[in-house]
Amino acid sequence: MNPFVSPQTLITGEGVLTEVVEQIRKFGASKAMIYADPGVVKAGLVTRLEHTLQLGEIDYELFTDVVPEPPLNIANHAVQVLRKSNADIIIGIGGGSTLDIAKACAVLSSHEGKVEDYLNLTGTKKLVHKGLPKILIPTTAGTGSEVTDIAVFSLDTTKDVITDPYLLADTAIVDYELTYSLPPRITASTGVDALTHAIEAYTSIRASELTDTLALDAIKRIGKNIRTAVWNGSDNEARKQMALGSLQAGLSFYNAGVAGVHALAYPLGGLFKIPHGESNAVLLPYVFEYIWPSCLGKMGNVAEALGLKVDHLSDREAAIKAVEELYNIVKDVGIPTTIKEFGIKESDIEQLTRDAVKQTRLLARSPKAYTEKDIRAVYGKAFEGKLKLN
Ligand SMILES: [Fe+2]
Repeated sequence: MNPFVSPQTLITGEGVLTEVVEQIRKFGASKAMIYADPGVVKAGLVTRLEHTLQLGEIDYELFTDVVPEPPLNIANHAVQVLRKSNADIIIGIGGGSTLDIAKACAVLSSHEGKVEDYLNLTGTKKLVHKGLPKILIPTTAGTGSEVTDIAVFSLDTTKDVITDPYLLADTAIVDYELTYSLPPRITASTGVDALTHAIEAYTSIRASELTDTLALDAIKRIGKNIRTAVWNGSDNEARKQMALGSLQAGLSFYNAGVAGVHALAYPLGGLFKIPHGESNAVLLPYVFEYIWPSCLGKMGNVAEALGLKVDHLSDREAAIKAVEELYNIVKDVGIPTTIKEFGIKESDIEQLTRDAVKQTRLLARSPKAYTEKDIRAVYGKAFEGKLKLN
């Protein structure tokens, strides 16, 4: 059985932010708590939301202290502010970090305790109801957070998640226009994150025909448009395709799962504070260099979806081309292609390996199993920066 789960309502299009008023009314809510980060405020996107709410005569309160890869103290502060307010609906507008905070706040509004009490690895309490309704509005393309039930938090040297179906959005509003002003570096890192979601979901052992359809289409849209969206951000068509591809990738990976790239990327974020998208991007070619023989046919399809000429190639040749193209994409959008460029030393590989081994939930979805030695070798290749495919 392959159940497919998604938010109850998904609204997509240019300028659909205004639909937020109708959605709030649908829940009979009267006051919104808005979560955002300073970058989204500076880009004028929160003003746009505020203007829409004012026109709709909806009362609201703002929390704009969200930071990237949020630590627990920020998340707990966000929860405290909500508990003191009389808000009856949550709106998250921003990148994955903001949407994750919004999800956690919505459920914790009606639960006792702190965020850490509900963490996957070390928490001691269980969520028993969904809390306040939540509307999630992504401004990147993207983390997919608007369609998943996971919220990621930074601990001292690692990361942990709250994951529960209660975290799923009631409504996700994907307004392409909100991504039009994203700077190149964030466009690149969130774009490669979305591409990683699609390829990892497509090759996951939990993939289904439905997740495959979404994932392949996402790979096509992102592969074709990511370079343009990064370097010519005013190309609205490329932006739109990235936003759509990111949404498809999110729906696909929420149902099929991500695997080795995310498993090995988590320690890069935890130990070295490398942003999520960049830590995935730098590992993407090397993880697929390791797993491609286990999913040959699918990697051939990935090559075709990425727009490569594969007509007269064998599956093996096409799969190798696909892995090379992943390397090219990362390089072309300006993200380092070795972990040493992030300041990581060869001697750090041991600690990275020890932490990655613990990501059993993610590693279990890989089509090719990993031993500790295999993980060490992948980090080693990502350190050297050499793909050896033949
Ligand atoms: Fe991701």
